[in-house]
Amino acid sequence: MFASDLPTPAVLIEKSRLESNLAAMQSKAKSEGVAVRPHTKTHKSVFIAGLQQDHGAQGLTVAKVGEAETFAAAGFTDIRLAYALYGDEKYARVSKLLATCRISFCVDTREGAQAASDFFSKADQIVDVVIETDIGYHRCGVLWDNPESVAFAKWVDGLPGLRVCGILTHAGHAYYGPQSEGETLAESLKRVSNQERDRMLEFAVGLRDAGVQAAVKGDLEISIGSTPSLRYFTNTTHEGFRITEIRPGNYVFHDKTQVNLGVCSWEDCALTVQATVFSKHKNDDGSERLFLDSGKKVLTSDGAYKAEGFGQIMYDSKAMVPMPHAVINALSEEHGWVRVRGGSTLNVGDTVRVVPNHSCVVVNTQPVMYLVDGENVVSTIQVDAQSKVV
Ligand SMILES: Cc1ncc(COP(=O)(O)O)c(C=O)c1O
Repeated sequence: MFASDLPTPAVLIEKSRLESNLAAMQSKAKSEGVAVRPHTKTHKSVFIAGLQQDHGAQGLTVAKVGEAETFAAAGFTDIRLAYALYGDEKYARVSKLLATCRISFCVDTREGAQAASDFFSKADQIVDVVIETDIGYHRCGVLWDNPESVAFAKWVDGLPGLRVCGILTHAGHAYYGPQSEGETLAESLKRVSNQERDRMLEFAVGLRDAGVQAAVKGDLEISIGSTPSLRYFTNTTHEGFRITEIRPGNYVFHDKTQVNLGVCSWEDCALTVQATVFSKHKNDDGSERLFLDSGKKVLTSDGAYKAEGFGQIMYDSKAMVPMPHAVINALSEEHGWVRVRGGSTLNVGDTVRVVPNHSCVVVNTQPVMYLVDGENVVSTIQVDAQSKVV
């Protein structure tokens, strides 16, 4: 079957680009002496998680218990929930998974840790937890440089039913780009990457000094990672501690956000949305407006760093050349509005490939994706954990 025979919209994954993204991250991890525990929220697919494992990934990362259940049922045995779980319903599902799987999850509040301890100690189980650490993104996590954070970790370590096995952070602020005049994109990524590494190593030293057992014994897991902050990541040793694992997610596919941040080039974007031009009209000023059969429910409304519009239409998906004069400037639920400056060669019935602003959220809109090798459809990839947000 040819890609052009697929009904649209269709999410296509270019096999060679996927493979080279997997290999590049694995080789970086090898050179920096860290394990790759990929975040599966990007692909939500057992097949791609299997490829990651074949490339050398050690364990998986998920956000939600429903995702953990999907991958555990598929036979994966080491799953980290990079999320601060709360509530007995969630703990009960984790408790069941512990029969076949090593599961760990985040704690970052006394309420959450106490509730988890109450549940797992009553169940007569010990579950691994990681202290979610805030090194500058200010989403969740205890602040890396607050003495109370070390005291919190020490307190959690003493709770029945829980074992502190590590510390974990996500440097999501790498996505903000330069923060001061004159700072380049590359400098901004290096700044956040160094912060992420150095602050986590410093926090580990504090845990050791406070007597947190894993840190004292030297087997504290130190988990970092976002695709942009890993671009310039280098490992280092600080008082005997090193970063032990990275959790990149988006790197498997990349997207327009990563291109605009300077993390990768268009040729590294493995995921495209194949869409059909199904309507075309003239504007009062003579320009054209075309409509793609992919609106908010496929491309999603996510913006990209410094990007105009909702994804990049490519001239030529083989050479991955962007069509700069055609901008997806608005989305209805089922319509992608395209403004074309200076006329276009696109007509009703043509198909185009769009590199989305944010590939992870596009995947969650689909039950399946198509693995392609150029124009040939190689196979269908199930999105096994689609909408597993509970
Ligand atoms: C906790 C956590 N870890 C890892 C990642 C992976 O980040 P990225 O997709 O930038 O590689 C994310 C992304 O949202 C995350 O929230």
